[in-house]
Amino acid sequence: MKTVTVSTLQAAKRAGEPFSCLTAYDASFAHVASQAGIEVLLVGDSLGMVLQGHASTLPVTLADICYHTRCVARSKGASLLMVDLPFMSNSSQERLLQDAGELMRAGAELIKIEGEAWMADGVRELTRRGVPICAHLGLTPQTVYQLGGYKVQGRDAAQAERLIADARALVDAGASAILLECVPASLGRAMQQALEVPVIGIGAGADTDGQILVMHDILGISQGRTPRFVKNFMREADSIQGAFTAYHEAVKTRRFPAEEHCF
Ligand code: KIV
Ligand code: NA
Repeated sequence: MKTVTVSTLQAAKRAGEPFSCLTAYDASFAHVASQAGIEVLLVGDSLGMVLQGHASTLPVTLADICYHTRCVARSKGASLLMVDLPFMSNSSQERLLQDAGELMRAGAELIKIEGEAWMADGVRELTRRGVPICAHLGLTPQTVYQLGGYKVQGRDAAQAERLIADARALVDAGASAILLECVPASLGRAMQQALEVPVIGIGAGADTDGQILVMHDILGISQGRTPRFVKNFMREADSIQGAFTAYHEAVKTRRFPAEEHCF
């Protein structure tokens, strides 16, 4: 695989070629994922749940994310390294710039930030300084206590329209990509068509430009109830390498997500 950059993802969107993304938190799994051809690795704050055992992503600190970013960066291969901005790193513009700077120094190549149109000023300041941004919309796990649980977002027409307007505002402010979590497939499709930047989906239907899942979910080792949009790729593989490759190929050939994984 040729080195993946933000421009690679934009070209993939223009060519109508889906790309695969997967979370990674350490050097060994990052290496296997990259070897499997997965275009984007995400050091997600989901590490708070799958590595640390918390009930949400809120306890994850900047230091935690930087540590895992450095681990993944050492063996990410040609994959693009996306990293989550942790909860409350957006508490002020100054802190936002500072914390994003730390993540870039640790090895991030694209920073993912949860937040709607109100994050536009922050996105503008970061992109001005050379920090590429992926804006995460829909189900934003850092606001789970406000949302009242991990629920499908953008179900009615007004909500869906608002999410598209929010995404537009963030793209206008400079965002290079949008990540859309847990929304009806129809909204995933509308978002993909409305925006010129790549839209990465998780539980957002089959028509987004990219797909992303949590590594532990595709290996079938997450605790508790797994969401509808998850598929355990270990069922059709006899190794972790095989499961990552099966996931990558299913995304590339649009066999994943299937109807049963969508809302
Ligand atoms: O933290 C994470 O793993 C994420 C993905 C689920 C998109 O944000
Ligand atoms: Na996250």
